[in-house]
Amino acid sequence: MINFKNEVVDLLSVVIPEIEKNEISSLLEIPKYTNMGDFAFPCFKLSKIYRKSPNMISKDLVEKISGNKYFEKIESVNAYINFTNSKTIFVKSVLENVNEKKDSYGSSDIGNGEEIIVEFSSTNIAKPFHMGHIRSTMIGNSLYKIHKFLGYDTVAINHLGDYGTQFGKLIVAYKLWGNKEDIENNPIPELLKIYVKFHEEAEKDEKLDQEARDWFKKLENNDQEAYDLWKWFKDVSLKEFNRVYGMLGVEFDSYTGESFYSDKMPAVLNELREKNILTKSKGAEIVDLEEYDMPPALVTKSDGSSLYITRDLAAAIYRKNHYKFAKNIYVVGSQQKLHFQQWFKIIELMGYDWYKDCVHVDFGMVGLEEGSLSTRKGRVVFLEDVLNKAVDKTKEIIEEKNPNLKNKEEVAKAIGIGAVVFQELSNNRIKDYTFSLEKTLSFEGETGPYVQYTHARTCSVLRKLDGAISNEIDYSKLNDEVSVEVIRLLAKFPDVVKDAARKYEPSLITRYTIQLAQEFNRFYHDNSILVDDLDLKNARIMLVQAVEQTLKNALTLIGLKAPEQM
Ligand code: ARG
Repeated sequence: MINFKNEVVDLLSVVIPEIEKNEISSLLEIPKYTNMGDFAFPCFKLSKIYRKSPNMISKDLVEKISGNKYFEKIESVNAYINFTNSKTIFVKSVLENVNEKKDSYGSSDIGNGEEIIVEFSSTNIAKPFHMGHIRSTMIGNSLYKIHKFLGYDTVAINHLGDYGTQFGKLIVAYKLWGNKEDIENNPIPELLKIYVKFHEEAEKDEKLDQEARDWFKKLENNDQEAYDLWKWFKDVSLKEFNRVYGMLGVEFDSYTGESFYSDKMPAVLNELREKNILTKSKGAEIVDLEEYDMPPALVTKSDGSSLYITRDLAAAIYRKNHYKFAKNIYVVGSQQKLHFQQWFKIIELMGYDWYKDCVHVDFGMVGLEEGSLSTRKGRVVFLEDVLNKAVDKTKEIIEEKNPNLKNKEEVAKAIGIGAVVFQELSNNRIKDYTFSLEKTLSFEGETGPYVQYTHARTCSVLRKLDGAISNEIDYSKLNDEVSVEVIRLLAKFPDVVKDAARKYEPSLITRYTIQLAQEFNRFYHDNSILVDDLDLKNARIMLVQAVEQTLKNALTLIGLKAPEQM
C-alpha cells in the first residue's frame, strides 16, 4: 500500500532541510474535515527558524514544493500546508492491497515473534460461569487474536480458580449433603447448592469452618481422599465450562490454574524471606506496603496455608522462566485492581525488573436490565442460559424474516452468540454497563447483528455477479465522496488494529466495524452496483469485495463469525 504520509514527509523534508524527517512526521496532522485535505502541516514551529510569520512560511513552502503524482492538491491555508491525496492512486492502492492480502489484511509483523501471555476468563471450579466472566473471556480472547494478528507469539492461559479454602468447604459440604448422581447430572448448580448450604450452616455452627480449613490443609498435603474429591469437582466443572467455551469459540493453550502452583510456592516464600521482604504478623506473614500507600499483603496464613496472592506470585515467576514473556497480560475485573498493584509491587521489591511487563487489563461490571433474564437459581445468571436465549430469539427472528435460509441452526448461533459478544466489546472496557438482551439482538442500531447483516449483504451482492470481473479496473470511477469515504475507512483498519493492541481495547475494533458498516450502507443506498457501465460496475464490485473482506477480518478479531447469508 502506498504510504501517503511518508510521501508527504519526503516532499517536506526537501524544502525544510533544517528539520529531521521524524519530527516532520510527528508534526503532521490529519484534518478534521476531509475537504481540508488528507494531511496538514502546521508551520508555527518554523517561525523561529525562518523569522517570518507562519502564514508567510506556509505560502513560501508551497511554492517550493515540486509537484508529485501522489497528490492532486497541495495548498497553503493560513499557517497550514494541506495535502490532498490523488483519489485515483489512493483508491487503487487501498483496494488492491485488501484484495491481495485477503484474510491477513490489517495484520502486521510488528510483534516480531515476541512472546505475549494473555491470561483471561479464569473461571472458578464448582462455581457458575456467570455473566461477569464473559467480559474477561471475550476481551481476553480478542486481545489474544489481535496480538497474534500483529505477529506476536501469543499464549492464552486460563488461570482456573481451582485451589483455596473454598475447596475445603466444598469437601465438607459434599460429605455432609452431597449426592454423587445429582452432581454428575447437573454439576455446577448442585455444587453451588451445597456450597451455599455450607455458608448458611457455618453461621450456626462454627466447627464447620475449622473442618473446611482442615480439609484444605489435607488437600495441600496430598491426602488421597481430598485429592480425589477435588479432582472430581474439577473434572465435572471443566466439562461444563468447555461447553460454554465451545459456544463462544474460545480456546486456550494452557489451563494451568492456581493448583498448578501449589508445589511452587514454598520456593517463592523462601525467596521472599531471604530477600527480607516478609514480616511476621500474628503467626502469619505479610509484605508491608505502607511506603507505597497500599495495605499489607498477606502471603501465608497462621496455619501455613497459602493464599491467592501467593499463587499469583508463583505463577508470574513460573511464566517468566517458562515463556520468557515480553508482556504478561491479566484480563481481570477492576475490583481486583489493588490485588494486582500489590503483587506487581512485590515482584518489583524482589528485584525483578520485568514487573514492568506485567499488565492488569481491568474492566467494569456488567449489570443486568430488570426482567432481561430470569435466573435459574438464586441471583446468579448463568452465561449459558443467556447464550441459549439469544440463539432462540434469533431463530424466531430468522423464521419471521427469512424462513427459507439454509443452515438456520448454525446461522442462529453465529448471530445470537455473536450479538452478546459484540455487546460485551462495544464499550470502553473500563465502563460499567447494563446488559439488555433486546437491544443486543436488534438488527438495527449499533449491534452485532447489524454488522453481520451488512457483511451478508456484501456477500449477496457478490453472489449475484455473473462471471469474473476483468483485471483492468478503472479506479477513477470511484471518485464520488461516499465511495472515497468508504475507502478511507478501509485504509484505516491496520492502524485501528494496532491501536486496539496498544490500548488493550478491542472496543476500538468493534466500533470500527459499526462505522464501516454504516458508511457502506450509505454507499449502497446511493449507488447501484450491477450497472450497465462495465467499468463502473467492476470498480464498485472491487469496493464491495474489499468491504466484505475487511468486515470479516475485523469481526474475526473480536470473536464473531461472519455468515454469508442470514
Ligand atoms: N478466578 C478469579 C475470579 O474469578 C480470577 C483470577 C484472575 N487471575 C489471576 N491471576 N489472579 O475472581
